[in-house]
Amino acid sequence: MLVLGIESSCDETSAAVVRDGREVLSNVILSQVVHTRFGGVIPEVASREHLKTIAPIYRQALADAGVELSNIDLIAATMGPGLVGPLLVGLTFAKGLAFATGKPFVPVNHLEGHLAANILAHPDLDRNHLTLLVSGGHTMLLHISRFGEYEVLGQTRDDAAGEAFDKVAKVMGLGYPGGAALDKLAASGDPTYFRFPRAVRAMGYQFSYSGLKTAVALYLDKLSSAEFETHKADIAASFQEAVVDVLVEKTVKAADEHNISHITLSGGVAANSRLRTRMQDELHKRGKRLFFPPMELCTDNAAMIAAAGFYRFETDGPGELIANAIPYLKLIN
Ligand code: KG4
Ligand code: ZN
Repeated sequence: MLVLGIESSCDETSAAVVRDGREVLSNVILSQVVHTRFGGVIPEVASREHLKTIAPIYRQALADAGVELSNIDLIAATMGPGLVGPLLVGLTFAKGLAFATGKPFVPVNHLEGHLAANILAHPDLDRNHLTLLVSGGHTMLLHISRFGEYEVLGQTRDDAAGEAFDKVAKVMGLGYPGGAALDKLAASGDPTYFRFPRAVRAMGYQFSYSGLKTAVALYLDKLSSAEFETHKADIAASFQEAVVDVLVEKTVKAADEHNISHITLSGGVAANSRLRTRMQDELHKRGKRLFFPPMELCTDNAAMIAAAGFYRFETDGPGELIANAIPYLKLIN
């Protein structure tokens, strides 16, 4: 079954063609650069950019896959969570295609898309697994017993991990969104240079990042610009270590407690090199396996939406064309 996926929940416009939830035939992703000069995503500007680019991106996805719209069996698009204007552009475009062609349509939860990225990329991943979902908007530890069945073990009480990366990167002058830039800078720094606080260590599987973000900002305030320039990489590495320490500690504990041997990283922060290495080391010691999506499937993309649409269609059949954008859509109601 060939699925066309459409993603437009934030500042990436993406269209993809995926076969049977497993094989990516195309995955065209356009990251909107217009927001960098504002230091954050401006929803109205994002909507207008999506409107300009959605049709050519969709045509490119079909062309790259070497297929025509008539070959597509199912159309899937993100319905939420995300920014309502941007969501509406992709969702309405996809529903329009489905209505015009009479093809089945499935609205997709963006978070479920991130989870599907691992299933898409790793045929040997157990359907029963644990995932650490870390993105710009979410930080959650989930037990997935099978696709669509989730138990939330813990989540953030305030900021998401990606949000903390972006905010710290911004105060360090690394641009927006700065998670990837901070990761790169930290690679040449000393993670033990300064010990930033590790939040809510004692609080089960909950996470918290607003205190850490403030601690970094206060620390930077006291530095001279010469000190900052000399130790930029060390500070980035020390901040990153504080985030990664807690993520690794709680994920490993949950895997042990629930006796789960397959663990995945999903969401944009799954691209973080330190998180991947540290998690891999800790799980390997316990004879457990870590899976994470390839880079292009970590951050927002339509291939993961097409895959999630395929798996949803397998269990629930087609969705309704009246499906609306839901900015605060949850994974579990
Ligand atoms: O999943 P995603 O593309 O968007 C949401 O659904 O939120 O995640 C984007 C987030 C941003 O906060 C970005 O800075 C972060 O993922 N990110 C990273 C890295 N690459 C992307 N954070 C840390 N290290 C990275 N290498
Ligand atoms: Zn995302």
